[in-house]
Amino acid sequence: MTGSIPGPVGHPLLGSLNDMRGNFLQFLVTTSRDYGSITQFRAGPARMVLIADPEAIADILLKRPELFHKTGSTKKLLAGLLGAGLVSLEGNEHRRHRSVMQPAFHTRQVQQYTQVVIEHTLKWLEQRTEGETLDIVPALADLMLDIVVTTFFSANLAETGQIRAALHSFSQALDLRVRSPISLPGWLPTEGNRILRQAVTTLDATVYRLIAERRRMAEPPADLLTMLLNTQDADSGQPLSDKEIRDEIATIFFAGYETTTTTLAWVWYLLSQHPAAHEKLLVEIGQNGGQVNPQQMPFLDQVLKEVLRLYPAAWLFDREPVENVTVGGYTIPAGRTLFISPYLVHRNAAYFDEPDVFRPERFQDSAEKQLPRFAYFPFGGGPRVCIGQPFALHTMMLVLATLLPRLNFELLPGQTIRPSAAATLVPAGGIQMRVHRL
Ligand code: HEM
Repeated sequence: MTGSIPGPVGHPLLGSLNDMRGNFLQFLVTTSRDYGSITQFRAGPARMVLIADPEAIADILLKRPELFHKTGSTKKLLAGLLGAGLVSLEGNEHRRHRSVMQPAFHTRQVQQYTQVVIEHTLKWLEQRTEGETLDIVPALADLMLDIVVTTFFSANLAETGQIRAALHSFSQALDLRVRSPISLPGWLPTEGNRILRQAVTTLDATVYRLIAERRRMAEPPADLLTMLLNTQDADSGQPLSDKEIRDEIATIFFAGYETTTTTLAWVWYLLSQHPAAHEKLLVEIGQNGGQVNPQQMPFLDQVLKEVLRLYPAAWLFDREPVENVTVGGYTIPAGRTLFISPYLVHRNAAYFDEPDVFRPERFQDSAEKQLPRFAYFPFGGGPRVCIGQPFALHTMMLVLATLLPRLNFELLPGQTIRPSAAATLVPAGGIQMRVHRL
């Protein structure tokens, strides 16, 4: 019986809804602190189980993934934007799409974008002036958007502006729609719906035209769109259809753009608070003779790992069992919403000393390999592990290694910087910083 899973009783009708609406992240932290690593609570009539136990998470994501699908509500939420992309497919269809798309995300392929990423970062840097103050979240979002457009569709296309505009309003629509995992459909703002329709129409028109043009090209550019057009199912030899490619482009954008933007924003914030780590990074980059070479930057790798530990962009994701299952000794009925939270596990003192302290060195000498499986999993795991992990890590390292010797951000005083539980773990209210050109 799930009744035996501990958790807050809450209001007779609303359950914990009010606490969840107040500060969802804090609610989860408190619940898991007070009731343990597998807990349950209620939002109105809906029951949810929160799982922050590495062994149980391994069981769900890795050992028996076929028994746990993405929840119906997440799929419904995303369907209007993403169609049937990787994030919402299950079973054989999911496997087929993964294997078709995988080559486009291999480390070797991702490394081909190196020059493009550096160029765009330098172009972005040129727009920064000494002493200007800005919210680094939208500023970095601009840069990541440019990088995504270029790596997906190539830089020199006339349509770049249009795709940029479509993806920009698409991300606004996403933001309005995916505010938090508990504010699911039903109460969608009309403004959001209008932006959404417009974004989907522009995105569709642009992407379908690009696909058609690309199919006619004798020598298409080596970008992600060409990869998606060329890849085929290893078994059947079938390529993806235009609709499937459109849906995957929207999906990749959805999964890749805000996650990398917010991670970079947290990096800059944490470095502004930890000058010794900042200095150590500059020394490391100096030792590489100013060359941007992620393979030769072990401390930068540790910094990124530590930032993804403290602020994992995908801080919470969900599943529902397709049949009654036992997890962590508890019986959980089919269809119950399960929340899996890297954020909670990453801040558990059982796995990380002083878990709230920023200490990149804890990841030196590949120390994460000594941890129990799923004590550290910013990119998930099992068959749904983040397909964009090499792209994300490579791109973020390139951006940081390019910017660090050339620019510094100083945190403006009087701000309380704290994470807010949106679709990704964004800094609530942004991060206002002053630019210093070096
Ligand atoms: C800091 C950056 C990122 C983080 C922390 C992150 C995290 C994650 C996590 C935890 C999952 C698994 C979710 C689940 O199991 O339900 C996931 C899935 C996914 N990610 Fe990422 N991601 C990042 C960047 C990217 C990028 C750059 C791309 C694409 C270019 C991307 C594409 C995807 C896709 C398509 C999936 C769905 C995979 C599937 O269901 O088979 N991600 N990501």
